[in-house]
Amino acid sequence: MLRAFYRHNDPKLVAVLQSAGLAREFREGSGSWLIGKDGRHYLDMSGNFGSVALGYGHPQIVAALRSSLDRKIPHVAPYGVDEASGELARQLLDLAMLPDHKVLYCSSGSEAVRVAVQLSQESTNRECFLSLASHHHGIGWQQSEHLVCADVEEMLRAVQGQQYAAVVIEVCAGSHPVCLSNEEMARLKHACESSGTVFVVDEVLTGLGRTGLAFAFHRSGLRPDIVAVSKVLGAGVVSSAAVLLSNTIYSQASTVTGLSHLRTSMAGNSLALTVGLAVMSILQDEKLIDSVNQRSTALASGIRDVSKRTYCFGDPTVCGLLLRVPVIDEMGKPDSATAMQIVQKLMDHGVISTLALKAPDCIVFTPPLNIGPSEVSYCVEALKMVSKELFGA
Ligand SMILES: Cc1ncc(COP(=O)(O)O)c(C=O)c1O
Repeated sequence: MLRAFYRHNDPKLVAVLQSAGLAREFREGSGSWLIGKDGRHYLDMSGNFGSVALGYGHPQIVAALRSSLDRKIPHVAPYGVDEASGELARQLLDLAMLPDHKVLYCSSGSEAVRVAVQLSQESTNRECFLSLASHHHGIGWQQSEHLVCADVEEMLRAVQGQQYAAVVIEVCAGSHPVCLSNEEMARLKHACESSGTVFVVDEVLTGLGRTGLAFAFHRSGLRPDIVAVSKVLGAGVVSSAAVLLSNTIYSQASTVTGLSHLRTSMAGNSLALTVGLAVMSILQDEKLIDSVNQRSTALASGIRDVSKRTYCFGDPTVCGLLLRVPVIDEMGKPDSATAMQIVQKLMDHGVISTLALKAPDCIVFTPPLNIGPSEVSYCVEALKMVSKELFGA
């Protein structure tokens, strides 16, 4: 199978993964585990970058998929109006505590952020927008209409100095260990309000419980104009996303046919809606959002325990089940080569992890939100073994 992937998909990627000892072929998944073709079990502490939020084969997700397929109407567009569409939107807005916003479905996280920017451009009649260099918002951004700021101070200066369509931020990023403080959020929101700039929060990774809050922006008590959400919504089995937009943006950016100019062919398809509704009820029935912090505290304290034995782990940044662990050298400097070695060794010990896209000295854990206590211990034990093998402690 790898040979076909090599030949017809991405030979360079295969070469890199193979030389790093990270290429694997998986046979099936079960809960938080992936099972290799050779029968080896791997604890998935990445969950495909936070997408496999309820683990593999959750019975309610499987049942939802089956029931949707049995209806034999994968999509009701362009003229059908799906009952599930309004119901899922209502539940998303309830959970977001944004009852007056509207919901537009998209097909991926990148598309949701792209649509959020386009809504901002249309509602402000401005072209250019701002983001932070340390944040990741997916693919498909036009450099010409986009200013990337090094930090919040630069972003604030830009918003106050010129007319921008939108400020796009993540509250807690998977691509970088530093989160925005409530104060920074408040200053950005205030600057946006005074300059007529749309305040967009990208919660593609964090929305629906990842950080131990329904949405990461809730921590600040602020109301974003637009929120993009994706990964948890699709549970890792369907490509699904949603944009939550304020009524003001809706009235400024909609045409006589509403938001139809921003709808892609498969956005809001029946399969995605059914899975989305199942995700919402699992989050509620299993009280998952409430228990995220409990699970993450156990994991974080295990990691801190390991870091006490050796200089190489810095203090982890913990936002619920989004944990980023910086790896440092003897001088306390970021050490991406060792971070890569740790990811490789963890894989050898049956634990899947990743490195932060914009900070490759940081190991990132985004496990399923329903990961169990024994699995948390398994990960910590693996880290201990890796630390012993690499650093003798
Ligand atoms: C915060 C954030 N925004 C946007 C994206 C892009 O989402 P997708 O990969 O579904 O296009 C990602 C993906 O990792 C993300 O983490």
